[in-house]
Amino acid sequence: MTKYQIRGGNRLHGEIEISGAKNAAVAIIPAALMVDGVCRIENIPQISDVTLILQILQELGADVRTVNRTTVDIDCSHIRNRKVSMEQGSKIRASYYLVGALLGRFGWAEVPMPGGCDLGGRPIDQHIKGFAAMGAQVEVRNGYIDAKCTNAGRLTGGQVYLDIVSVGATMNIMLGAALADGMTVIENAAKEPHIVDLANFLNSMGADIRGAGTDVIKIRGAERLHGGTYSIIPDQIEAGTYMVAVAAAGGEVLIKNVIPKHLDCITAKLLEMGVDVEEQDEAVLVRRSGPLNRANIKTMPYPGFPTDMQSQIGAVLCTARGTSIITEGVWDNRYRYVDELRRMGASIQVDGKVAVIEGVDHLTGAPVRACDLRAGAAMVIAGLAAQGVTEVDSIHHIERGYENLVEKLAAVGADIRIIETPDEDSKTQVG
Ligand code: EPU
Repeated sequence: MTKYQIRGGNRLHGEIEISGAKNAAVAIIPAALMVDGVCRIENIPQISDVTLILQILQELGADVRTVNRTTVDIDCSHIRNRKVSMEQGSKIRASYYLVGALLGRFGWAEVPMPGGCDLGGRPIDQHIKGFAAMGAQVEVRNGYIDAKCTNAGRLTGGQVYLDIVSVGATMNIMLGAALADGMTVIENAAKEPHIVDLANFLNSMGADIRGAGTDVIKIRGAERLHGGTYSIIPDQIEAGTYMVAVAAAGGEVLIKNVIPKHLDCITAKLLEMGVDVEEQDEAVLVRRSGPLNRANIKTMPYPGFPTDMQSQIGAVLCTARGTSIITEGVWDNRYRYVDELRRMGASIQVDGKVAVIEGVDHLTGAPVRACDLRAGAAMVIAGLAAQGVTEVDSIHHIERGYENLVEKLAAVGADIRIIETPDEDSKTQVG
């Protein structure tokens, strides 16, 4: 079994370069299916979710060529298939973007129900409602989402009011609408940075999308999208994770290749907790030398505090002075990491969507599990601050979304390494 081994207590000093945004990349790569010509996509993060989505495109018949470590050329002129294999498609949450992209370009799609982190119920009713409003017939059967256009193989513009602010539904409807016949309006749309990034990508290839980043998005369907070059934005959550890691471990780190505006919600909380954060043009300098203060956190859609940072900030609040309260406002079940932090001496009570954290003097190293992607990042952060050795298993979850996490942390002085242990050695096997 491959694990991360962390000996806590080192302060972090130096610079960390942030990679391209996972949640933008996993939508923009499927969007290349809609383009008539070659798309060059730059600043792609090297993470397993991206590898998987590129493999799915290849299975469908796309020609994917690696230009360099962070750039690929994708040519979807010869797509043979509109059906995504169960084996690949069910492993990843973002496979649902293939529905919008294939339906928009070819008029039908068969895509497995998505996988991804277990965060409680993850319905896709708002995606389906959106496609239905654009004239598609959508059925879920045999584990597949089966979607067809009823109007001569082309979606028609429609009016969609989202009952819940959904990132995935907003982006999926935007994909389908980009090549629909006429105008689509999405109301109560999500406003995350990756929504603006997907709109910018599609617009740079000839789409007509206005209002992305506000709660009303208007999309006038184009006849075709043409090839071009696009660079993905930096990852807000990866940057936030390292900001919080510095808060937990102490030290001073310049976090580079970020859009500081996207980090405002995280910066504000860290300042409240007594951490110094200095915004620069495309970087933030994070410094912590004194004790950490308690804080209350409520996760919300952007520009609120991101749910994808909840477990990482939870880990750092374990050693803050006083009582902190976290309220999860997006997912039903995002506290599975709490049991793991308790193994390290954290004092946390959870009641439904609320977690109450009593700050303790210090955490102690322990064997723990990465229950999901962000929970795994939280374990690493807790391990950096703890006294003694922490071993994190199930790290494949972490590798889905963080490029070179071990190398990036080791380069700023963390004592972290990848180790191999016999399987039976693990005390934290999934039951
Ligand atoms: N929801 C519905 N119906 C739908 C869609 C969503 O009820 O049709 C609900 C969900 O159950 C949830 C809320 O709406 O309670 C928000 O879900 P959303 O659709 O916004 O989430 P998502 O698109 O499935 C993306 C990210 C998640 C991130 C959320 C919220 C990707 C691939 N995933 O998921 O990222 O937590 O937005 O910001 O973009 C992660 O990166 O670790 C991660 C889980």
